[in-house]
Amino acid sequence: MKIIIINGPNLNLLGKREPEIYGSQTFKEYYRTLQMKFDTVELSYFQSNIEGEIIDKLHEVGFDYDGIILNAAAYTHTSVGIGDAVKGIETPVVELHISNVHAREDFRHKSFIAPAAKGVLFGFGLKGYDLAIQSFLYS
Ligand code: DQA
Repeated sequence: MKIIIINGPNLNLLGKREPEIYGSQTFKEYYRTLQMKFDTVELSYFQSNIEGEIIDKLHEVGFDYDGIILNAAAYTHTSVGIGDAVKGIETPVVELHISNVHAREDFRHKSFIAPAAKGVLFGFGLKGYDLAIQSFLYS
């Protein structure tokens, strides 16, 4: 089973960025625990602050991976291009947010990805990535 986690803009700052919202653990640290827990999964990780790079990565993996976990961060709420890329590929995408976006500003309630996603997970902190992997394993 091949699963990729794709994180969008500013998520490279996890651990330092607004810790009261996103926690104080770095993604690198958390990713290690995922690799150990899901050692039978071919797990990979990609992060970019650039919209086009995220679209290119979706095209690259979207016809032969088994699952994509996409936290497009702020682009979730603005990017028609990422939404169209998710519609255009075959691999199922779980949209993920660390925070409860529906408890935050109105502009975070809109998603261009959700209509084409297999499912959406938000508000569980970094644990959401673990739950998203499980959603592919047990479906
Ligand atoms: C986020 C929520 C987005 O609204 C925000 O722009 C982010 C992170 C989350 O994981 O909670 O950068 O996707």
